[in-house]
Amino acid sequence: METLIQIEQIFPSLTWRIRHEVMYPDMPFDSVKLKDDFDGVHFGLYLNHKLTGVVSLFHQGDVYQFRKLAILNEAQKMGLGSKLMEYILDFCKIQKATELWCNARVNAKEFYFKFGFHETKDTFFKDGYDFVIMELKF
Ligand SMILES: CC(C)(COP(=O)(O)OP(=O)(O)OC[C@H]1O[C@@H](n2cnc3c(N)ncnc32)[C@H](O)[C@@H]1OP(=O)(O)O)[C@@H](O)C(=O)NCCC(=O)NCCS
Repeated sequence: METLIQIEQIFPSLTWRIRHEVMYPDMPFDSVKLKDDFDGVHFGLYLNHKLTGVVSLFHQGDVYQFRKLAILNEAQKMGLGSKLMEYILDFCKIQKATELWCNARVNAKEFYFKFGFHETKDTFFKDGYDFVIMELKF
């Protein structure tokens, strides 16, 4: 079967199941809902018509932050996370963003290096994970 990949803007609540399954399966479902979700722009990656990956974008002026990038476990390391990342980079450029940043899980740092993000000195520990703030200037 041919592989069909489509990325489109989705309603905030559509992100919650994948966020929960992939990122915080041991936490209560409601913990993956963000206070700002309804102020964000959310994108879904559909693999053969099945919602397989999500990411959420928030901004304050020209400075954008992405949060909760997640690809279903069984579909990781196939290039799908990269597709979503490239999509939001293009989106930010179209919006004339000056910067894109994220709270990166330290174990995903290498993934972000591939797209030109660099790590800052800001690190923290939350919900069992080490994080580092990573940023990319346009
Ligand atoms: C991190 C994540 C979004 C990457 O998406 P993906 O579809 O698996 O990644 P891709 O297949 O597009 O790219 C993988 C590439 O990044 C590299 N990589 C480095 N660290 C990685 C990591 N922790 N997970 C996946 N890939 C990683 C791989 O080696 C690969 O490099 P290559 O293309 O040179 O071979 C996905 O694995 C995921 O959802 N992980 C769990 C949730 C998570 O950690 N989210 C990020 C929170 S900051």
